[in-house]
Amino acid sequence: MNYRHLYHAGNFADCMKHALLTALLHALSRKNTPFSVLDTHAGIGLYDLSSSQAEATGEWREGIGRLLDLPPDMPDLEPLEDWLALVRQVMKEYAGKMMYPGSPEIVLRALRPGDSLVCCELHPEDQRALRRLFHNNSTVSVHCRDAYEAVTALLPPKTARRGLVLIDPPFEERSEFTDLVKAVTTARQRFPSGIVAVWYPIKHRSPPRAFFNALQDTGQRNLLNLELTIRPPLDPGLLNGCGLLIANPPFKFDEEGAAILSALCKYLGDGNTESLVEWIVPE
Ligand SMILES: C[S@@+](CC[C@H](N)C(=O)[O-])C[C@H]1O[C@@H](n2cnc3c(N)ncnc32)[C@H](O)[C@@H]1O
Repeated sequence: MNYRHLYHAGNFADCMKHALLTALLHALSRKNTPFSVLDTHAGIGLYDLSSSQAEATGEWREGIGRLLDLPPDMPDLEPLEDWLALVRQVMKEYAGKMMYPGSPEIVLRALRPGDSLVCCELHPEDQRALRRLFHNNSTVSVHCRDAYEAVTALLPPKTARRGLVLIDPPFEERSEFTDLVKAVTTARQRFPSGIVAVWYPIKHRSPPRAFFNALQDTGQRNLLNLELTIRPPLDPGLLNGCGLLIANPPFKFDEEGAAILSALCKYLGDGNTESLVEWIVPE
């Protein structure tokens, strides 16, 4: 396990994932009944963007850095408002330090009494950091458990009938897309009402397309795909874009997601950024 998210936290791909995650949580909060979130690849929860690791790549400067430099009341940032307000709030609580919230911290802040968060993180050091972050929080449990095993072992959630499974792998394994097809299928079998959101990288077009074909072959329905590319995906050595595949998306999430991606397109990348929202399989 070589991947450490601290090097990449706050980059354009995190902006896309976290802005959409915030909107998914917002949709879950519209109903009063409790929800549960399983974050299968949780990371450390909170990232110090002034750390040597984050500065070594400087990726965050082309992501959250650009967005935080904009005046917060700009009308075209409105679809990003909830997420950006959360990021600003976290930084304020850390006395203006560049502390960037990862997926578990974003989820934690959306939980209401009765809701819950279950995190899995396999890297021993990152798992310890995550436990430290949530040490006195009874609504969050942290497991040192393989994400794909967790989808079977921890679903359906014990405490709620509604919820979200976020699957955000590092894509170090060649089998990752194949593993994801199995994971999405299993998650939906075990938790049919749950939303399942899978982040994936776009280096070139063919691996994600093969992933969608494989999902279609399973016969699953109600699969929405959202993508952001900062350049045409022609050089497979680069992270040219990323996507979020969502099974069972909330009502009208195609429209809400499109607005979020359009807002990101204006400020991320170097003028060639594009977004795409498509139904891989309709409801
Ligand atoms: C992309 S990062 C997660 C970022 C996080 N979801 C966020 O948005 O803030 C992927 C994480 O998964 C962990 N990981 C890798 N393989 C795993 C596995 N099989 N099970 C659980 N965690 C794993 C890595 O250590 C890394 O921290």
